[in-house]
Amino acid sequence: MSEYYKTKESVTEYIRLAEGVNGGRLIKKLKRFLPPKATLLEIGTGPGTDWNILKEDYQVTGSDNSQEFLGHLKANNPKGHFLELDAITLVTDKKFEGIYSNKVLHHLRDDELTVSIARQHQILGPNGIVCHSFWRGEGAEIFKGLFVNYHSESALPTFFEEHFEILLVERYAEFEEADSLFLIAKKR
Ligand SMILES: C[S@@+](CC[C@H](N)C(=O)[O-])C[C@H]1O[C@@H](n2cnc3c(N)ncnc32)[C@H](O)[C@@H]1O
Repeated sequence: MSEYYKTKESVTEYIRLAEGVNGGRLIKKLKRFLPPKATLLEIGTGPGTDWNILKEDYQVTGSDNSQEFLGHLKANNPKGHFLELDAITLVTDKKFEGIYSNKVLHHLRDDELTVSIARQHQILGPNGIVCHSFWRGEGAEIFKGLFVNYHSESALPTFFEEHFEILLVERYAEFEEADSLFLIAKKR
């Protein structure tokens, strides 16, 4: 398993590289489907940029499987709620009305993504909403020692359809035109 995201050096580097990048446009779309004040779990909160935007509208709980990111989040947001959670197993007895992630679930292999989505279904209340972004493309690669899985608009919904009604799948530009996808779906 890669140590990227797990060491002080790589986390400091990620925070610097990700400066100025945020999920504002995704969150704007999420707000069409998830009402204000809803309870929301963010998976892979990382530096906390989106967590800070989400907390303006939602009762948001941040989470990550990196102690280094969790330490950074807690130090910068002493009143914030954060959990140590792995995106695949999501071991918590809490329930949420929504689950959000921005560029996190692409680190899961196809079979891990299937497990994660089934678990997300379990920890959501009735009609719960998921909103996740992915890198758009085909195949997979290792980048900075990390597994990166690419998804297409046609294949991505098939991971969710057993447990969720798809509400939206859209392309967007993170760094280059149509390099990314996001999906919003409602618990069946
Ligand atoms: C590309 S960063 C994105 C961080 C943040 N969402 C953002 O938009 O800046 C990926 C994040 O997911 C976390 N992550 C990677 N694999 C994970 C897993 N299996 N479970 C939980 N978090 C994971 C990393 O620690 C890191 O914080």
